[in-house]
Amino acid sequence: MTQRNRIRVLFVCLGNICRSPTAHGVFRDRVAAAGLVDRIEVDSAGTGDWHVGKPPDARARAAAAARGCDIGDLRARQVAAADLRAFDYVLAMDADNLAVLERLARESADARARVALFGDYSGRHPRAAVPDPYFGGEDGFERVLDLIEDAAEGLLVEIRADLERDPG
Ligand code: 4NP
Repeated sequence: MTQRNRIRVLFVCLGNICRSPTAHGVFRDRVAAAGLVDRIEVDSAGTGDWHVGKPPDARARAAAAARGCDIGDLRARQVAAADLRAFDYVLAMDADNLAVLERLARESADARARVALFGDYSGRHPRAAVPDPYFGGEDGFERVLDLIEDAAEGLLVEIRADLERDPG
């Protein structure tokens, strides 16, 4: 039996407990609403290892839940060079995360992922970084969600075009 081609998307931030799990959950819900769960796989990771195995920060969970998005099942992991081979899109939340991913890609002989800033897909906030909300107040998490929801829309448009070029 042949398996249809899938597009794999990895969201990356620093801790994998605030921004990237939020992007993971929001984009996963968009993919499900579009009926594309069998064509698009979604994951997230952090450049750091401090929170590996932990669920998302309670403030991130609450802010996402208030917009109808449940991210309580997610657990933090650290990004690895193998991710640059396994994923089609590896999307950084800010310039620091992007620099780490670009270095990993250079060091990994067969890296093939498209490495970019997630904000590149945003229509309303083009090229905006998703700022780290960890040490700030609740409004930081709302800003994170606003930016992520906007970029998720643009990313889905881009990936739909990929899928049309490769119907599997
Ligand atoms: P994230 O936020 O990168 O959006 O998951 C952070 C979480 C934890 C830390 C920094 C940022 N930390 O320093 O522990």
